[in-house]
Amino acid sequence: ETISKGNHAHFMRKEIFEQPLVVAQTLQSYVRAFDGEVAIPTADFDLSQVDRVTMVACGTSYYAGMVGKYWIERFARVPVDIDVASEFRYRDPVLEKGGLALFISQSGETADTLAALRHARAEGQKIAVVVNVPTSSMAREADLLLPTRAGPEIGVASTKAFTCQLAVLAALAVNLARARGRITADEEREIVSHLTEAPEAMARAIEHDDDIKAMAPLIAPARDVLYLGRGPDYPMALEGALKLKEISYIHAEGYAAGEMKHGPIALIDDAVPVIVLAPSGPLFDKTVSNMQEVSARGGKIILISDAEGIAAAGEGCVATIEMPSVHELIAPLVYAVPVQLLAYHVAVWKGTDVDQPRNLAKSVTVE
Ligand code: G6P
Repeated sequence: ETISKGNHAHFMRKEIFEQPLVVAQTLQSYVRAFDGEVAIPTADFDLSQVDRVTMVACGTSYYAGMVGKYWIERFARVPVDIDVASEFRYRDPVLEKGGLALFISQSGETADTLAALRHARAEGQKIAVVVNVPTSSMAREADLLLPTRAGPEIGVASTKAFTCQLAVLAALAVNLARARGRITADEEREIVSHLTEAPEAMARAIEHDDDIKAMAPLIAPARDVLYLGRGPDYPMALEGALKLKEISYIHAEGYAAGEMKHGPIALIDDAVPVIVLAPSGPLFDKTVSNMQEVSARGGKIILISDAEGIAAAGEGCVATIEMPSVHELIAPLVYAVPVQLLAYHVAVWKGTDVDQPRNLAKSVTVE
């Protein structure tokens, strides 16, 4: 079956727009509609016995894992160790017998991730995988298969597979939290109800497509772009920078907002756009002080926040992108949309090959 772009100019745009649907589809396979609980297909797996998780992935899938680490530690209070596959497989990691090793991959074929999986198995780990291709090598070699239901992803730069990975990791975090006795059934239902609001909130984020397109000329001439975030929005800053690099060929860095003073602040001048991902919440004021440090040096800020955040800190920014107000658990799913659209429109403005960026492959099956 040939997959068409429909009425979209590129597969990437089509895949960004599909996200509310495929994230809903993915969530439906984990959330039991009748009682609002999360059900992971655990088979012979006892999640209550998991007291450490080792996560391994590459590229965008690695950033999904970083968000998952925040959630699993926050909700289930299980420590998570995370590494990129090419480091993990050669660093002789300490893996205690019976631990859970979780591999995240759109293709299920990335050579480094697959080699890391085999290493973990040889070291006595239980193997769980979050993959989008159910017939892939990783899916076949797993003890626990946690599929994403993104459908085939054609654009080389991952978008919908990423947000579906986030949905699965959120479901896993909630399930682990219950299995470990960290949340009550009522708390679980409340968290799950926020999670099921994600597709609708993502659809509202997509409505900003035209506004974001209008911002492309602000970014396109830049040589360097900085993305800042805190908490789970720190990996989202890393992902935003990766997307921009991949398809627009502009150098971009993602940084933990509080770490900026230890280096990237030296780069800031009026030629460096700074994209700040900051939903309102307990860390918001801290990020606002980082924004002031950027403004004082002439940096041009694009603030991605909700109405409350924009009202509090939008003044002085060159542009703002208003996201719906959402529970902190689903913010990364929603904030993924504007960073993807921003990278997309900058790339289109520059005239690059959006779906097939130079030097990159959809699936890297060699080391
Ligand atoms: C390549 C792709 C990325 C992807 C990464 C990991 O670099 O261009 O979009 O994130 O591989 O791929 P995987 O299939 O393992 O998620």
